Amino acid sequence: RHVAVLMGGLSAERDVSLRSGEACAKALEAEGFKVTRLDVDRHVSQTLSDLRPDVAFNALHGRFGEDGIIQGILEMLRIPYTHSGVLASALAMQKDKARDVLRAAGVPVAKGVTVSRLEAAKKHVLPPPYVVKPLSEGSSFGVIIVRADQEHPPQELTRADWSYGETVLIESYVAGRELTCAVIGDKAPAVIEIKAAGGGWYDYDAKYAPGGSIHELPANLKGIIYQNVQELALVAHRALGCRGVSRTDFRYDDLPGGTAELVVLEVNSQPGMTETSLVPEIAAYAGLSFGELVRWMVEDASC
Ligand code: DAL
Ligand code: MG
Repeated sequence: RHVAVLMGGLSAERDVSLRSGEACAKALEAEGFKVTRLDVDRHVSQTLSDLRPDVAFNALHGRFGEDGIIQGILEMLRIPYTHSGVLASALAMQKDKARDVLRAAGVPVAKGVTVSRLEAAKKHVLPPPYVVKPLSEGSSFGVIIVRADQEHPPQELTRADWSYGETVLIESYVAGRELTCAVIGDKAPAVIEIKAAGGGWYDYDAKYAPGGSIHELPANLKGIIYQNVQELALVAHRALGCRGVSRTDFRYDDLPGGTAELVVLEVNSQPGMTETSLVPEIAAYAGLSFGELVRWMVEDASC
């Protein structure tokens, strides 16, 4: 079977996608598939139409690859593809819309508002600490953390070369621990706790530099919390209509008096598949090698 691995692309996460794509292409070749690596550009529709692969393995991240657009092209060409379809991709990528759907499904999210970036630069829209997020980016691009003692709102939002959209999501900062849980098919096999090396936050470098973060797998949580995270990852995956593999990121904080706060930060419909990525690690913990994981994804592809 001939698999085209779609990688690279036109988003800010291009480099991450090249790494995801390379890792998946190698693993698929080792599994015996005929593989074409396709660096996606504006001619992708014609290229795919000429190539006619049996399956498109979507290793893209970000704009055009994770937001329903490439998925729409693949639907039109009737080429089965991995991961989520058009609507789920578009919803998951648009953080404010995803929050609405998740809340309606009973999934807890942080307090949040959407405003124009210029408004967010004028005054604190929420009491600090809070997090400013572009509406549809990944890999922490454009994320700004405003600390509790920061007097002024972030001025980088006014920069002329700001390239992450005119509207931003402002979410209350939830202190505590960073957790993530993959969904593979209809299972949420395990929860990871992520600790950024050096005590910082899980930014781009912590995500992709070897040793940039420590992953505790399985996360050391009370059984009931651990199961709650797994359950919420499944509910979130289903509420958005995701298919195949997704990864949901959480924050969890123990509060005084024995209570706790657990919120979903986001659902990633095209989670990273690099050597330092979380989904392959969770799959391995569940007994699925990288090769077996990508093979399953190809077999599960549809359009
Ligand atoms: N956006 C990156 C690739 C992730 O979610 O893993
Ligand atoms: Mg993300």
